[in-house]
Amino acid sequence: MTNMFQDWPEPVVRVQSLSESNLRTIPDRYIKPLSLRPTLTTHSALTVPIIDLSFISSADKSLRDETMDKISRACREWGFFQVVNHGVSPRLMDRAKEAWREFFHLPMELKQVHANSPRTYEGYGSRLGVEKDAPLDWNDYYFLHYRPSSLKDYAKWPSLPLGCRKVIEDYCKEQVKLCEKLLRILSVNLGLKEDRLQNAFGGTDEAGACMRANYYPKCPQPELTLGLSPHSDPGGLTVLLPDDHVAGLQVRRSDQWITIEPAPHALIVNIGDQIQVLSNAIYKSVEHRVMVNSAKERVSLAFFYNPKGDVMIEPLDEIVTVDSPAIYFSPMTYDQYRLFIRTQGPQRKSHLDVLTSPR
Ligand code: OGA
Ligand code: NI
Repeated sequence: MTNMFQDWPEPVVRVQSLSESNLRTIPDRYIKPLSLRPTLTTHSALTVPIIDLSFISSADKSLRDETMDKISRACREWGFFQVVNHGVSPRLMDRAKEAWREFFHLPMELKQVHANSPRTYEGYGSRLGVEKDAPLDWNDYYFLHYRPSSLKDYAKWPSLPLGCRKVIEDYCKEQVKLCEKLLRILSVNLGLKEDRLQNAFGGTDEAGACMRANYYPKCPQPELTLGLSPHSDPGGLTVLLPDDHVAGLQVRRSDQWITIEPAPHALIVNIGDQIQVLSNAIYKSVEHRVMVNSAKERVSLAFFYNPKGDVMIEPLDEIVTVDSPAIYFSPMTYDQYRLFIRTQGPQRKSHLDVLTSPR
């Protein structure tokens, strides 16, 4: 099993190189079957809720309660919400995105220094999953660890543009604070003690945090492919900083794909599989996907806040009752779950099924 993860099964092609080679048609491996191709227009009155997080600490109790309630409904009904006034400095958000945009615009040989392997995925990558001949998505990315400190290794962070490590560090630090706050809110909303989810994640020092900067180059045939295939996020919580200039992220709502229109300096929060398991599916990790386009590239920063790798993740005792028995009874640690997912790449939500079947 370990050997399989040492390297990619075939030479890696940077999507950026394909994009810049002015192809008129995309290679077959990026062409999705008809049923998976993007629907370019979703005329829908439905939008992902936008929540002003500063209201959580308002002096006005009814405003606090209303905000908690909005988050509760968003977690149950959407698995997604946008937050504004979230405490992460807008200037830092802009600087972080700019640093990553500059990284992706560096000459290829400077980026290749950081080329990743499926062993840890850290670094510059162009695919998920190690299956030979698997279909590919239209994106390049950079993945790095921020927490726990034992996994953080500046040598695996980009060295250019100059000063980017400091910006990434500052950005991740603020994101961790936001995620800790969100976990407290979700715990209270689930009727738990405020620190319950954080403890289930292994505490503040041991919880995992990592980021994935996504680069979606321009695509000559956006109607045939996807920047990211439908998937749910495997971890705890995701906080996404979207591109302000280009929409692309779509969220599944029953059989519709709803395009998220980001509010200015908003962050997009979504529930990952681990919180779905801990909450015994009261909260859902909802499928999402990314469309690309022919006119503009897109950069997004996904920050993932995850349980410590070696704690068992199973429905919380306080939530499981005679009337609502545990639906996940084959628990895994997050490390085990992540390894399992990495063998397969983005695959709708079938990953969670492994937790509901005896092993
Ligand atoms: C992800 C993701 C969405 C986007 O990185 O898991 O869903 O808009 N990204 O880039
Ligand atoms: Ni995602």
